Amino acid sequence: MMLAPGSRIGILGGGQLGRMLAMAAARLGFDVSIYNDAPDGPASRVASESHVGAFDDLDALRDFAASVDLVKVEFENVPAATAAFLASLGPLIRPGPLALATAQDRLLEKRFFNESGVPTVAFAPIAARADLEAAFSALGAGILKTRRNGYDGRGQIRIREASDVGAAFDALGGAPAIYEQLAPFEREASLIAARTADGAFAAFDLCENIHEDGILRRTVCPAMAPADVASRAVEAVRAIAERLDYVGVLCVEFFLMPGGVLLANEMAPRVHNSGHWTEAGAQTCQFEQHIRAVAGWPLGATTRLARVEMENLLGADVGSWRSLAEQSNVRLHLYGKRTMREGRKMGHFTRIWPR
Ligand SMILES: Nc1ncnc2c1ncn2[C@@H]1O[C@H](COP(=O)(O)OP(=O)(O)O)[C@@H](O)[C@H]1O
Ligand SMILES: [Mg+2]
Repeated sequence: MMLAPGSRIGILGGGQLGRMLAMAAARLGFDVSIYNDAPDGPASRVASESHVGAFDDLDALRDFAASVDLVKVEFENVPAATAAFLASLGPLIRPGPLALATAQDRLLEKRFFNESGVPTVAFAPIAARADLEAAFSALGAGILKTRRNGYDGRGQIRIREASDVGAAFDALGGAPAIYEQLAPFEREASLIAARTADGAFAAFDLCENIHEDGILRRTVCPAMAPADVASRAVEAVRAIAERLDYVGVLCVEFFLMPGGVLLANEMAPRVHNSGHWTEAGAQTCQFEQHIRAVAGWPLGATTRLARVEMENLLGADVGSWRSLAEQSNVRLHLYGKRTMREGRKMGHFTRIWPR
């Protein structure tokens, strides 16, 4: 069923992703309601309606869901009880509970990738100190990560030698964790794709990501990767999306290893920072694609129109808006955040070159 223009799309979460989704939805003639736990967020200021409530306030969530034709969850760390509650209200909740539960837990996520035929680094579940000692002996140097609630490199500790194990385990305060073997990757890449309820699938071009201090700094598209690596990435994401029976846009991050080996790192069941270039460099942007998929519309063309380089404006970087605004091949996007903090994503810009 195609949701008609004039319908109301509800978005859970009020940050920059919600803002950009709301803008894309408005362009297709939808009304947008935002539900967020704080007033005056970036998304609320471009939406026609805004609800403020806690993400575990089930009464407020029920009222919100009743006021819209479809609910879209903008961030994957929504409490599990909230996701289950929303799913119990009806089928028009995206992403569904399986995709949310999988993306919320690094251990389930990596197992899910492997079950989908997609390789990852070697890993082990960590519940006790002895698990970490055994995992370090088996896998060598690696990264201890909390299973849940990590993002932008938070909740991660590198382990280089056996003497690091005790302190690393203590640092996570007993939270359920995963130990991952260190991947000596050549590059990091991500692939953004969309799937509809009918099973139609379309991927954007593979892009390359440069992180600094665990935070995405730049994305370059296309990635410097052989065509067969790029097509394996597409097939990997297709397999994951199929197995999740996924509807909407999803992003999978990869490590490009020596010898053309491709390992999946993590996924986001939503639009992703590494796909912001699509608003300037693709025929359909990831935000519109997401709205199209969840609204039951046909997917838009994912054709890349230019060579692009997207850079995040983190913290004080946002002060360069004047000079960016003067550059003819730059597309500037500011999120309207009221306060600036070091490392906070304040905006991004995309440089565009002819193909
Ligand atoms: N197993 C690994 N081997 C090498 N580098 C890693 C590994 N896991 C994560 N990293 C590095 O840390 C970054 C952040 O880790 P990631 O698992 O993507 O968590 P986040 O949710 O914080 O993005 C990755 O982009 C990569 O640069
Ligand atoms: Mg990541």
